[in-house]
Amino acid sequence: MNAEVLNSKTKTVSEVYSAAAKAPQPGLCCPQSYKSEFTAHIPKDAFDHNYGCGSPLLKAGVQAGETVVDLGSGVGIDCFVAARLVGPKGKVIGVDMTDAMLEKARTFNGSVAATLGFDVVEFRKGVIEQLPLEDNSVDLVISNCVLNLSLTQETVMKEIHRVLRPGGRLVISDIVVDREIDEKDRANEQLWAECYTGAIPVDKLVKTYESLGFLGLTQLDESTWEKVAGYNFGSITLRAYKLPSSRVSGCVYGGHVAIYLGPYVSVKDEEDHNFVRFTPTEVCDATSARLRMHPYADQFLVLDLPALAKATPLSACGCAPGVVCPPAAEAAPAAAPAAATSCCDTSSSAAKTSCCDTATACCG
Ligand SMILES: C[S@@+](CC[C@H](N)C(=O)[O-])C[C@H]1O[C@@H](n2cnc3c(N)ncnc32)[C@H](O)[C@@H]1O
Repeated sequence: MNAEVLNSKTKTVSEVYSAAAKAPQPGLCCPQSYKSEFTAHIPKDAFDHNYGCGSPLLKAGVQAGETVVDLGSGVGIDCFVAARLVGPKGKVIGVDMTDAMLEKARTFNGSVAATLGFDVVEFRKGVIEQLPLEDNSVDLVISNCVLNLSLTQETVMKEIHRVLRPGGRLVISDIVVDREIDEKDRANEQLWAECYTGAIPVDKLVKTYESLGFLGLTQLDESTWEKVAGYNFGSITLRAYKLPSSRVSGCVYGGHVAIYLGPYVSVKDEEDHNFVRFTPTEVCDATSARLRMHPYADQFLVLDLPALAKATPLSACGCAPGVVCPPAAEAAPAAAPAAATSCCDTSSSAAKTSCCDTATACCG
């Protein structure tokens, strides 16, 4: 996208939301209401300027003391809900590029702080493509109906990855569409600013998350919105994590075994590990660290067995960056559980090789 189009669309978005900060625009985006138990401390006027499309915070598992950042914070409704959840030891930062939105949000801040009895919310001017935040400084990034307005969503996702601390998560509600929007419709700046033609199909959105290294993707919510210009629009809330990955850090076998606890017979992760229920599987350091963190920790038992540590990966199909084991279905006969266990037995190199030839699960 050339700079002229970029500037013109960004200007239109800012103008639309500047007007929407000054006078309520009830038809803009697809606002949904938070349960009143979470919003009683927020001035009623703020809800006249609610332009979100979900409730990302309610399923984000916010903990007291966390640092939460809201991208495209508008008049601050999600920031004020977050303030209540993080409590006096937490921190909430709303980032928005539109002066009128920031001004409006700041008018509500004093009253929210007085009602809560603590002041943890700050609104910063900035674009979400270049976040005014330190690296690795944030526990949770949320956003409510804003990503579709960005002309460079990949850049925004890279920025989110940069500012999240390892183990941190993003929970984003955004508009999605049932098929790719045609170029001519994408050129309609007004429809873009109203949250329609910047929307992308869910599968493309998921691929963007995955290609930028986010792991543990989970859909938390969805709803339909409306049909415009022949497209069906809806909203979706996704959660994803910044976690250790052997594709980034390389594959070092420091002596760890992971046991998948169920309930499924087997599960496959984003790095092509296939974990069979109750079957010990040797894993590399990065995978071991990841499986001890959310959202996997409840489903795996990870044991440290220093005697298994070795200097080189188990086999050519190990988890060196960019190298993935062949899917189990492509490999000749599936390994029986006993063979899978013997794969983790370092005393026999023959057992290791044959196991790793036939079962992805053994390739750590
Ligand atoms: C649809 S409104 C959503 C506001 C708020 N999240 C809510 O739920 O009410 C979009 C907001 O994102 C801001 N915005 C849009 N594009 C942005 C960008 N590239 N950088 C920073 N803010 C942006 C707009 O100024 C506006 O306040």
